[in-house]
Amino acid sequence: MVAGILLTLVAILAVAIYAYYKKNERFFKLGSQLPGPRYIETLKRYLDTRKPPEQIFKVALQVAAKYDNLVKVWAGPYLLVGLFNPKDVELILGSHVHLEKSSEYKYFQPWFGNGLLISYGDIWKNHRKMIAPTFHMNILKSFFPQFNEISRKVCKKMEKEKGKPFDCHEYMSGVTVDILLETVMGYKEPRSEDSGFEYALAVTVTQEEKPKVEQKQETIQGYNNGTAVRDDLDENDENDIGEKKRLAFLDALTEAALQEGVNFTEQEVRDQVSTIMFEGHDTTAAGSSFVLCMLGVHQDIQAKVIQELDEIFHKTDRPVTYQDTLEMKLLERVIMETLRMYPPVPVIARKLNEDVKLASSDYTVPSGTTIVIAPFILHRSPKNFANPDVFNPDNFLPEKCQERHFYSYIPFSAGPRSCVGRKYAMLKLKVLLATILRRYKVTSTVEEKDFVLQGDIILKRTDGFMIQLEDRQKIF
Ligand code: HEM
Repeated sequence: MVAGILLTLVAILAVAIYAYYKKNERFFKLGSQLPGPRYIETLKRYLDTRKPPEQIFKVALQVAAKYDNLVKVWAGPYLLVGLFNPKDVELILGSHVHLEKSSEYKYFQPWFGNGLLISYGDIWKNHRKMIAPTFHMNILKSFFPQFNEISRKVCKKMEKEKGKPFDCHEYMSGVTVDILLETVMGYKEPRSEDSGFEYALAVTVTQEEKPKVEQKQETIQGYNNGTAVRDDLDENDENDIGEKKRLAFLDALTEAALQEGVNFTEQEVRDQVSTIMFEGHDTTAAGSSFVLCMLGVHQDIQAKVIQELDEIFHKTDRPVTYQDTLEMKLLERVIMETLRMYPPVPVIARKLNEDVKLASSDYTVPSGTTIVIAPFILHRSPKNFANPDVFNPDNFLPEKCQERHFYSYIPFSAGPRSCVGRKYAMLKLKVLLATILRRYKVTSTVEEKDFVLQGDIILKRTDGFMIQLEDRQKIF
């Protein structure tokens, strides 16, 4: 009797699996043609990645080295394809078709709702069109007083850490939130000294615990020099209709929400605010912390950056201007090289809604696949960068950039869904880092080979961002 029931259940299951297979036959056939490890190998690799998170990066690099241009992995009927060739990456990121984020991004849904990072279709398109101009260069230039003032404040705050090793990430996190609140959010009321730290802490806790979170609230000339493709941010800057009133992010959003006929609800404003605070905060905090650590390790390069800064500021205490940032050529290359080796967003994923015939090979990736693009892997490939594990800011000399494929360096992603805060981030990083380096000499208390990377949404160090500061000029 029991055996009969079991047999019937097995038969029903077999028929259901067969029907599912037949319905998706093309998907399974195309998927099975792609190169990748066998199930047993996949399982082993999966178990490997369940070791400490720092192992994930080593495993990912090993897999990429073994599989040349692409690798597929089956997770049951779910197909993931990692692309390592910049030509294939361009097919996805540069396209106006493959714009949907993969289902993994739904983890952010309770937090970001329909915010720009995860929305799709017309909602994303309309909101992007509205938000991108709020990061216009003319608006960014007006943020310099806040960039300067808050950067100086953090220099003062870090004074108590002088002469001993400390984790700079907490400070970089706090200063980043304070700058975001005052610039993008236009938050002008007096706040407690530590409000930036409080927000940063709240974000860190919620990320770990994953509950629903209440809403708390260039053309940098060298940059486009062959390292990234033009996007809507460039178009906004170049097609400037001078007279038009430009509003900063939250003002523009609020005004839009109040206008009749504009489909921007209060909830959507909240979602965009949460998205910008998250995307703008953790990424830039990790980026600036990594730069301080790298300069702390590479004293010779730090000496040259300091020389560049002294030539710009002549040891005065005047604030950094937009023009100064254009002269910070070496500091810019140092930031870009740091974002190459330690991209704050190490992985990007998209859902394919159409088949894609790859450019690097004859394979076709079927609709329904999750495409995984890892800036960390692209940036560490010897095919894209000679000696990829060596910190070398000269990788970003204009002639070197021109030799590379555009999509081999994508710390801010690229194409229509590229980072909307890219120019903001680069300007802010320059002002913040220049201010710290005018005031202090930085040393790293850990050798680069001993950095322990943490595989997470945002790339960080599990061992902390340990540096030590000494006075250089007590100018502020
Ligand atoms: C070093 C700093 C930063 C890095 C490395 C970075 C990187 C990225 C990357 C890789 C993406 C694409 C993510 C994906 O497709 O899954 C992205 C998207 C985004 N970033 Fe950034 N970001 C930085 C700073 C900022 C800042 C300062 C802001 C805002 C103030 C910001 C706002 C956004 C938004 C809103 C998106 C979604 C854009 C869209 O889908 O249309 N980011 N960022």
